[in-house]
Amino acid sequence: MSRGDVEKQRKAPKPQPSATEDRWPEVSRRFPALQRSVNAHRLVYLDTAATAQKPDGVIAAQQEYYRSFNANVHRGIHTLAEEATAAYEHCRARAAQLVAAPSPSSLVITRNATASLNMVARGLEHTLHEGDEVLLTEMEHHANLVPWIMLAQRTGIVLRHIPITDDGKLDLSKLDELLTARTRIVSLMHVSNVLGTINPVAEVAEAAHARGATVVVDAAQSVGHLPVDMVELGVDALAYSAHKCYGPMGLGFLAAKPELLDLMEPMEGGGEMINEVFLDRATWAEPPLKFEAGTPNVASAAAFPAAVDMLEEIGLEAVRRHEEELAGYALERLSSLPGLVIYGPTDPAERGGLVSFHDPEVHPHDMATLLDQAGVAVRAGHHCAQPLHRRLGVVATTRASLGVYSSKSDVDALYEGIRFARRYFNP
Ligand SMILES: Cc1ncc(COP(=O)(O)O)c(C=O)c1O
Repeated sequence: MSRGDVEKQRKAPKPQPSATEDRWPEVSRRFPALQRSVNAHRLVYLDTAATAQKPDGVIAAQQEYYRSFNANVHRGIHTLAEEATAAYEHCRARAAQLVAAPSPSSLVITRNATASLNMVARGLEHTLHEGDEVLLTEMEHHANLVPWIMLAQRTGIVLRHIPITDDGKLDLSKLDELLTARTRIVSLMHVSNVLGTINPVAEVAEAAHARGATVVVDAAQSVGHLPVDMVELGVDALAYSAHKCYGPMGLGFLAAKPELLDLMEPMEGGGEMINEVFLDRATWAEPPLKFEAGTPNVASAAAFPAAVDMLEEIGLEAVRRHEEELAGYALERLSSLPGLVIYGPTDPAERGGLVSFHDPEVHPHDMATLLDQAGVAVRAGHHCAQPLHRRLGVVATTRASLGVYSSKSDVDALYEGIRFARRYFNP
């Protein structure tokens, strides 16, 4: 698909979602793992932010790859190798289209969002000098903190952080001071995996670009949950994982402007990423292959388009409305529990489909264990955001996160489970 085709698809009117709400039970029936029970209860899966369940279409496509055309990519001229290569490149095109990347060749296929963010940090290392600054935020996931910390240790760059307000939003009143003449990169998350906050990425990107900085967005919690458009966000690079948006494990993406990919050095060397190799030197292939050393996860790549098909069929606007409505319902129910501390913005319009909370009387791990007894799967811990939890003044929180298969009855099960846990510890 050419850059023009992608642009046309981006501008084409999005399919109109059905106005009826009764589509969601049918959607949830497409997820086989959700049909099981846990501890003699219906499974209520509220851990989509860790990984989303997989629909039948994705599972079937992955099986189909192994059953029908298992082969390596880009290196064979036999039929199976051509079919595998076509499937792999189709994944690239669909993954690029999902986030309105400039073109399929602007999309690098990686292992996960973490690998994509490391790739940018390592890839730009040669452009940074001691004293240069990278601006992050206080709410970042470790995947968007540690690669920059490692870079700072190697190069002497300075890390700065946009603070958060008490209601879990970015405090942009400090942005002008934080963006300095030395700011070279600004990297921030689109949706917080703890607070749920949807960050004003476009606003930050505009201010960062005015200072000549490169803008990277960690879209691990937004892709698949709301429409994500690199052009509208105005970012230079965007990282996401397939497994968090209903796709298979072991597959991630880095979408980036062509000039940025040209500038970045490859992190790994080996087969497929080269143009010419001599015994003592080598030249690199053009992006995106320059960043794809070795045999990739072709089976997962073959399956990912089925997840994109499902999201397009439902409509990402409809997915967003569904999650916003459920998040609003969860906020309403949970805030009726006296003493329960809920983090992040109170307005569901400002947050994605997840709610983290803390009960001063019940440790988050006990809470998650007792919820599991009732068939409710949530996540407890620091959610790979230790600095944020320090800022919140707790070591851990309990997080309930939603997806296309979630329903109000799931939220009700969560509410009842929390009440049960509270009675268990305070009979
Ligand atoms: C906001 C955010 N960024 C990055 C990641 C890392 O994703 P992965 O583990 O798929 O690389 C996560 C995973 O939880 C996340 O929530």
